[in-house]
Amino acid sequence: MAKTIIISNRLPVQLQISKEGITALPSVGGLATGMKSVHSGGDSVWIGWSGLTDEEIPEGKEKEIDKALAGHGSLQVPLSKEEVDGFYFGFSNRTVWPLFHYFLEYAEFELKNWEIYRDVNQKFADVVLEHSEDGDTIWVHDYQLMLLPDMIREKRPEVTIGFFLHIPFPSFEIFRTLPWRKEILMGLLGSDLIGFHTYDYERHFLSSVRRLTGIEVSYNEIYADNRIVRVDSFPMGIDYKKWHQAALKHDSPKSSEQSDLQKRLDSHRELTPEGKLLLSIDRLDYTKGIAKRLHAFKYFLDKYPEYKEKVRLIILAVPSRANVPQYQLLKSEVDELVGRINGEFATVSWTPIWYFYRSVPFENLIDLYTSSDIAWLTPIRDGMNLVAKEYIASRTDQTGVLILSEMAGAANEMNEALLINPNNFEQIADTIYQAINMPIEEQQARNSLLQNRLERYNVEKWANDFMTSLKSVPSKGVANITLLLKGQVWDNLMSKYQISHQRLFFLDYDGTLTGFRNDPQHAEPDGHLLELLDRLSEPEENTVYLISGRDKETFQKWFGRKKYNMIVEHGVWISENGEEFRMMEQMKKDWMDKIRPVLESFVDRTPGTFIEEKNFSLAWHYRQTDPDFGNKRATELKTVLTSLIGTDNISILSGNKVVEIKSGNVNKGRACTQVLARGQYDFVFAIGDDTTDEFMFQELPENTFTVKVGREKTNARYFVENNRKVRDLLAGFLNI
Ligand code: ADP
Ligand code: G6P
Repeated sequence: MAKTIIISNRLPVQLQISKEGITALPSVGGLATGMKSVHSGGDSVWIGWSGLTDEEIPEGKEKEIDKALAGHGSLQVPLSKEEVDGFYFGFSNRTVWPLFHYFLEYAEFELKNWEIYRDVNQKFADVVLEHSEDGDTIWVHDYQLMLLPDMIREKRPEVTIGFFLHIPFPSFEIFRTLPWRKEILMGLLGSDLIGFHTYDYERHFLSSVRRLTGIEVSYNEIYADNRIVRVDSFPMGIDYKKWHQAALKHDSPKSSEQSDLQKRLDSHRELTPEGKLLLSIDRLDYTKGIAKRLHAFKYFLDKYPEYKEKVRLIILAVPSRANVPQYQLLKSEVDELVGRINGEFATVSWTPIWYFYRSVPFENLIDLYTSSDIAWLTPIRDGMNLVAKEYIASRTDQTGVLILSEMAGAANEMNEALLINPNNFEQIADTIYQAINMPIEEQQARNSLLQNRLERYNVEKWANDFMTSLKSVPSKGVANITLLLKGQVWDNLMSKYQISHQRLFFLDYDGTLTGFRNDPQHAEPDGHLLELLDRLSEPEENTVYLISGRDKETFQKWFGRKKYNMIVEHGVWISENGEEFRMMEQMKKDWMDKIRPVLESFVDRTPGTFIEEKNFSLAWHYRQTDPDFGNKRATELKTVLTSLIGTDNISILSGNKVVEIKSGNVNKGRACTQVLARGQYDFVFAIGDDTTDEFMFQELPENTFTVKVGREKTNARYFVENNRKVRDLLAGFLNI
């Protein structure tokens, strides 16, 4: 039976090893709760690292651990200390984590760590492969496992793979600094669906794919060989009910047993009834801006001294990744700052900061959320920030103010919070002042909107939305057309070829018979291609036309001696059996002098672009410029041209990284139909990769074998993945 496999670095259970034996307790983390609906019953398994290195596991206990984990539907990938050092502390947390959070100066590029990261990803993949079969759905989580999707896909192409990144995806300018950037992208592209918290992360990822791989991206779809990879944003929610109900229970008079922490919080309130509690909760991580927050707090006390002895800041920092030097440095910095500020401002009855460096149980988090007047969360960069959502969910009477950094993913959905720039101390101080003085009605109005949204888009909905979307990605990319080089479709094509007597071929050149080069002037045919074309043209039954947008001079130079039939400049010129080129259509060219200066101005403003001048057309090529910039300029150019040409009989064609302006309504479709009308053919075949080839696909009769190279939207009936496969196709006709 098809099953669901969830993979994350950390398992949703925590191991406890004692003298009595080994137990696995379910973890209360957001991911584990969110995935409950997905990870239920016997048709799902969660694969991950147990959190202990091989060296830490008592000898002979391995089986016991496996058994304890199996009780929770979990399976471990055992890792040695060396692997954890290189993979987890090393590449994941000393390279990817800082880089993806824009801490470029902290990112280390160690080849050894990269190699271990790759090997450990392979280790995860091996466990997944061992426990999966075709038809399974696989969901991979987070930055520790970015190579996994492709590693699984390679061995098991028929599974459905989703990937979700829980941290930001940085802008191209940052991502490009990673020496293994392409490997990471290709690893991720093994997925069918890639999810991010926000649209910005999605946009950054698509831009990196476009710029670094050259793979075609259309809106949020990536055409990777024969598959569509869909990219989308799914902002992760929390288990709203859990937090809200725990808070309700906490507030109810029945709750007689108070924690020590709650007693301390209550006594603070009794001693300073007008006092305000500010709460800051994070993992002790430099991305969370804890040190900056402390400086900002001092700034606030200096700017608004009337709040001395009235406002208290509670800082709860969870120990995290303590083997990484930056985290150790941060720990000393925060310790020192807390000491300094308390030393400077404390009075006999008031310590401005209460600082806890530990993980606390769920009940204490509820104590803190329900007792704090203000939650103050100022990450410098944060993928989402769930604490912000948990605070709001726990405010059962809808009072409380959330001050949130605009650099947190959560800020996108939490507009009603007070959003601040964590670097702007002036703004922060004023915002704390605003929060302290915010009328209750305003607090409730803001929080009620926030709560409605958090309740609706909770973590279960997040997981279900992702799974629904994953299942709806067109299976292996097949949308409206069929992959040609396989099974029955292929056999049918070959047998039609065999039994037919008059065959007509239209073969596009650039991107079809040959790949794109950065310099289009040097895209001469290679020996292998010429041999294929010779042999295809050889049988009497075959009439082969090369059909291209290129100018006749270039084709004459490249193919003149071969006597192939050629249609060039999109159907302006034709040459058959080695004769001189003649015009297929009557053309005007007086418009060219008016349009050329416009194109020249675009060349001046868009480095890397150039004009190709053909006999009856002008083409502006932008393959060598930045892809986003090029697309933007192309749209601009088309708008300018459309208004310029008015009613003149001139057409604008958008090709693959080229905008071409031509006389009349010449196109490859018209040219093909003219040729077709001259003979009696029982087998017609047309192949091309470009939008300009769509004219052929549209105009040729329905029973034509129309073939698109690549997986973009098309009017063709079939597709092949890339131009290398075109050669296999031609070789197939020739039985070689
Ligand atoms: P990150 O995933 O980067 O650590 P989030 O804010 O998204 O940041 O998630 C942190 C999670 O850790 C929250 O679910 C929060 O409840 C929990 N948490 C934060 N501080 C503590 C703590 N001191 N003890 C226990 N859990 C904590
Ligand atoms: C972030 C990451 C998670 C990670 C968590 C705790 O939320 O996105 O993948 O599990 O931090 O970090 P740790 O290194 O302790 O797993």
